[in-house]
Amino acid sequence: MSQTERVGVSLDKKLLSMFDELIAGQGYSNRSEAIRDLIRDRLSEQRLAKPATRAVAGVFLVYDHHSTELSAKLIDLQHSHLLQVIASTHVHLDHHNCLEVIILKGKVGEIEKVANNMACLKGVKLSRVNIMTTGEHLT
Ligand code: NI
Repeated sequence: MSQTERVGVSLDKKLLSMFDELIAGQGYSNRSEAIRDLIRDRLSEQRLAKPATRAVAGVFLVYDHHSTELSAKLIDLQHSHLLQVIASTHVHLDHHNCLEVIILKGKVGEIEKVANNMACLKGVKLSRVNIMTTGEHLT
């Protein structure tokens, strides 16, 4: 386990009050954990800017169930990038729409390429990628 060091930070009272209100609303019981999470988030974001960083991502796609060939193309994409696909799940949203959630693991640049290829397929109405580092470099 890494060593802990105490630090003092000077903050404007109003800024601190707004921060306390924010983290209380999020459910934090103390400032320390909230500040640690903020630092981890910033470090993770910085690493995500580098294409070679290892990351995990959830790709969310809402698409037209009646779009012919789309399902096969999505599966083809996953097969052609087999090492990066951890899992995928399918939800029937209504008569017309389906949600596919595909979890990818790999280098940021490769994940973004695959996710973009999926988002651009004809029949995909909405897409969103939630990407983060694997956390291996964070304590
Ligand atoms: Ni469906």
